[in-house]
Amino acid sequence: MHVAIIMDGNGRWAVARRLPRSAGHRAGAKAVNAIVEEAARRNVKTLSLYAFSAANWGRPRAEVNALFTLLRRHLLTQTRRCLEQGIRINIFGRRDRLSDDLLRVIERSEQLTAHCTRMQLRIAVDYSAQHSLLAAAHRMRLESDAGHARFAEHLAMVDHGASVTPPVDLLIRTGGEKRLSDFLLWECAYAELHFVDCCWPDFDEKAFAAALEEYSRRERRFGLLSPAPQARAGLG
Ligand code: FPP
Repeated sequence: MHVAIIMDGNGRWAVARRLPRSAGHRAGAKAVNAIVEEAARRNVKTLSLYAFSAANWGRPRAEVNALFTLLRRHLLTQTRRCLEQGIRINIFGRRDRLSDDLLRVIERSEQLTAHCTRMQLRIAVDYSAQHSLLAAAHRMRLESDAGHARFAEHLAMVDHGASVTPPVDLLIRTGGEKRLSDFLLWECAYAELHFVDCCWPDFDEKAFAAALEEYSRRERRFGLLSPAPQARAGLG
């Protein structure tokens, strides 16, 4: 199962407590640790987190720096824990605008965990689904008979994916907004959407379990018809 999360509401969480926005992002990074562990425990195979969108470059310099500092620290402190738990780390998105130092930290985390197979933790950094789709389309343009599967391979290459990204089964967005914000637009073609009002730092293991529980009750049809009632009951 592939779960993708848009971790929204760090800023509002901080403002509500009269704290600087950076404190909200720090609390958000703590929530990341808890959810990563819970996802692995619950047999999620792929977890994609939206940490920094291409549009986020437009935020004040200090906030951008705070986010990159947190991400760097997260990779430096959590890689060993991921390794112990069999979690493979992969950062996806553009790399040409990241600092050399962060690139080294990213490559170290990816290399150290490359053999892990229990769960893949994908963290989107400088990511825009539209940018990735355009770049993949450019790579496809000379391959006249290439199809759906080949496009997914190009997409994985432009995103620096460790392998072709499986389709998203469940997309969770915290913070009360109901939009996709340029996250995994191709991969979410048939994703079930789950929007919650709580801010990301308050999204805990219980809230994650509730999202999975609600997902398990959804009927996924992928554009097909529901099985007839007698077929579902094993009578058809
Ligand atoms: C959206 O909240 C959140 C972000 C732009 C960044 C998400 C980053 C983290 C959770 C921490 C770092 C990540 C990792 C993987 C260690 P917002 O600031 O837009 O909140 P607002 O809508 O309330 O202003």
